[in-house]
Amino acid sequence: MNDPVLGFYEGLAEEYHLLFADWAQSVERQGAVLDALLRRSGAPPPRRVLDCACGIGTQALGLAARGYHVHATDLSPAAVARTEREARAFNVTLTTGIADMRRLDTQVPGTFHAVLSFDNAMSHLLTDADLDAAARAMASRLVPEGLLLASIRDYDVLREGRPRFTSERVLDTPEGRRILFQLWDWSADGGQYTVHQFILRQDGGTWQTTEHTGVYRALQRVDLERALTRAGLVDPRWYTPEETGFYQHIITARRP
Ligand SMILES: C[S@@+](CC[C@H](N)C(=O)[O-])C[C@H]1O[C@@H](n2cnc3c(N)ncnc32)[C@H](O)[C@@H]1O
Repeated sequence: MNDPVLGFYEGLAEEYHLLFADWAQSVERQGAVLDALLRRSGAPPPRRVLDCACGIGTQALGLAARGYHVHATDLSPAAVARTEREARAFNVTLTTGIADMRRLDTQVPGTFHAVLSFDNAMSHLLTDADLDAAARAMASRLVPEGLLLASIRDYDVLREGRPRFTSERVLDTPEGRRILFQLWDWSADGGQYTVHQFILRQDGGTWQTTEHTGVYRALQRVDLERALTRAGLVDPRWYTPEETGFYQHIITARRP
């Protein structure tokens, strides 16, 4: 699994913020949403949080700004380097490391009150064996009573319709116009798909286009929940976007 995922995010690291109308605002908003969820779950700041799929830091930076002690790790060295750079730009303190979420037990020292993997990162784990390895490794980094949190796309619905094309977004930004869309190529059984993420940027009279290719499992809620349960976590709870204000479904589960 490593190579396609690494290639996708090493290539995207410098452009990932372009997927948001205003990335800095999303960092702030997502920090607020996650903070509310952590407080509600009994883990207010300054609890220790491990973001094991930190990417460029959309959640990690927002939580660090709200007083959590954040350790931010990711498979992609380019993404981690960008998180470090953005932490300086946002003037927040966090620690970082390069780690595979399936190997956190050996690659990340210490334990945390919360371990999170947001923005559909667990859907990059294409097999049950990888999903189980990640669930077990994440659970291993939790203190007793600690909370695992993960968000995924709504594949319970998407798998039914197998859309080829996600609705495009046109963003008018101070740097110019941007058009974002994805093409999805589904496997015959509907279990996974290849995504082609297109970013078009207006540059005077011409358009610059970049494309990044990645593979996802159409991970259904029941399959993620079962993997967390197999990893020994208890009290799984799903939160809808309406309940949290986050744009994807979120699952939480606790270490006994
Ligand atoms: C959609 S991105 C989200 C990043 C982050 N939440 C953000 O908003 O900046 C998914 C992230 O998961 C990471 N990822 C995928 N598989 C991973 C694995 N096995 N271990 C650690 N990180 C992984 C990717 O490198 C990528 O940075």
